[in-house]
Amino acid sequence: MFTFVPLLLLPLVFGYDWGGYVYEEDLLYDHFPGDFKWGCATAAYQIEGAWDEDGKGVSIWDNFVRIPGNIIDGTTGDVACDSYHKYKEDVQLMANMGLKSYRFSIAWTRILPNGIGERNQAGIDYYKNLIAELKANNIEPAVTLYHWDLPQALEDMGGWLNDSVADWFEEYARVCFEEFGDEVKLWITLNEPHETTIQGYGTGTMAPGKHGLGTLVYIASTNLIRAHAYAYRAYHADFANQNGQVGITLNVGWAEPMDPTNETHIEAAETNIQFNLGWFAHAIYKNGKYPDVMRQKIDEKSYLQGLPESRLPQFTEEDSLIIEGAHDFLGINFYSSNLVYPEISDIEDISYYADQDLAAPQSEDWYGSGSSWLKVTPFGIRRILNWAAKEYGDVDIYITENGFSDRQGNIDDLQRIYYYKHYLNQMLKAIVLDGVSVKGYYAWSLMDNMEWAMGYTEKFGMHAVNMSSPDRERTPKESSKWYGRLIAENGYVESVSPCF
Ligand code: NOJ
Repeated sequence: MFTFVPLLLLPLVFGYDWGGYVYEEDLLYDHFPGDFKWGCATAAYQIEGAWDEDGKGVSIWDNFVRIPGNIIDGTTGDVACDSYHKYKEDVQLMANMGLKSYRFSIAWTRILPNGIGERNQAGIDYYKNLIAELKANNIEPAVTLYHWDLPQALEDMGGWLNDSVADWFEEYARVCFEEFGDEVKLWITLNEPHETTIQGYGTGTMAPGKHGLGTLVYIASTNLIRAHAYAYRAYHADFANQNGQVGITLNVGWAEPMDPTNETHIEAAETNIQFNLGWFAHAIYKNGKYPDVMRQKIDEKSYLQGLPESRLPQFTEEDSLIIEGAHDFLGINFYSSNLVYPEISDIEDISYYADQDLAAPQSEDWYGSGSSWLKVTPFGIRRILNWAAKEYGDVDIYITENGFSDRQGNIDDLQRIYYYKHYLNQMLKAIVLDGVSVKGYYAWSLMDNMEWAMGYTEKFGMHAVNMSSPDRERTPKESSKWYGRLIAENGYVESVSPCF
């Protein structure tokens, strides 16, 4: 049912002290907390290869890449970086940088080839061996259960649009807790559910390639949030003696008001963050419901569009209770920012973007990267950390991804060092000057890999991978050495200039 609240009554939550930004700030020379978790991140489909080896089942990505036109350079992740066979070498790359933690994902179809039911021992062994190798090198595993590679068998039953997916995910999560939980203390249920739904069920640019930008995306988001919460509750009901933590990884760009002195721009920026981070975080970290601004806008637009009910589903009361508070920490993937101002959409436009009534361009003045959406905006990371701390209370935060792409893959990657140097210093300011509880940081990525629909054209790695050689040799880039020195110092030290 619709509930109409006049727009004038919308609570204007101006949580953050907006007021313009300085593009390149002076560095703060200080240290990170002593137990700070420094890491790199990867994902199964992007690095493992061995797509059909040792009993692995078929995922939606194994099929999506085979449809002509889906991947810009016509490549696949069939072999990728071949980490399935080269994981020991990869752990050595991490050890050389002095990493304390490694964030990787489990391929659901290696563990349960059909998504539910029978287990595949060879797949389980692969991850047990990887975890043992990490531990032998004093590197803690941080494990993502779902980084976009849904079993095709489950997609055939509706995938994230089928309400039962929350139970299927819980079953899979339980298997992982049981098999790996003695050694894994940091669990991430879902990686970037925003992209799972927007690109998978909205624009069709990612697997499973469905188109429902104003409709399916909200059905999928509801099931993604439910799935996360079911897995979280399962852990705390039956695996609490493992003493680990369970959270979710959400992506968000910082929304800077185009005119920081204009209240309507500030409100639009706030709306934009609620539609991105709040879409998934609000129910989990606040009150078991979607953000008020989403509820109001989508309910009202659905009514004006003549639809029989709102395009944004309601959680059942029972699910709301399960979802509210289902977290031990918040994972944030942060890369870039936008400039936001209000712009009323055409009511005929049934889309997640139109639902927001705003425009969110990026400045021509910001440094670019190898990815169209990724502009270099160091100030954004400090701002989003402060925004999240204010909005969700004193929650522990991990930056579970942050990184820079180029197209060259050059070894002397000074642009990447510039990016890390300034973003990480802004994160240091958030911790030391603003008191935000950031516990760890994972650079994306350990090595160049399969960048989804962009294939191998966009390179995010701190190591290059020779994709034209069967051996897929890795070569450290300058950024891996810079990162290693930062980790060794655990902060910014003036005497280490000019490196810092
Ligand atoms: C987010 C995703 O989690 C990861 O898979 C992707 O490669 C990076 N961002 C870069 O786009």
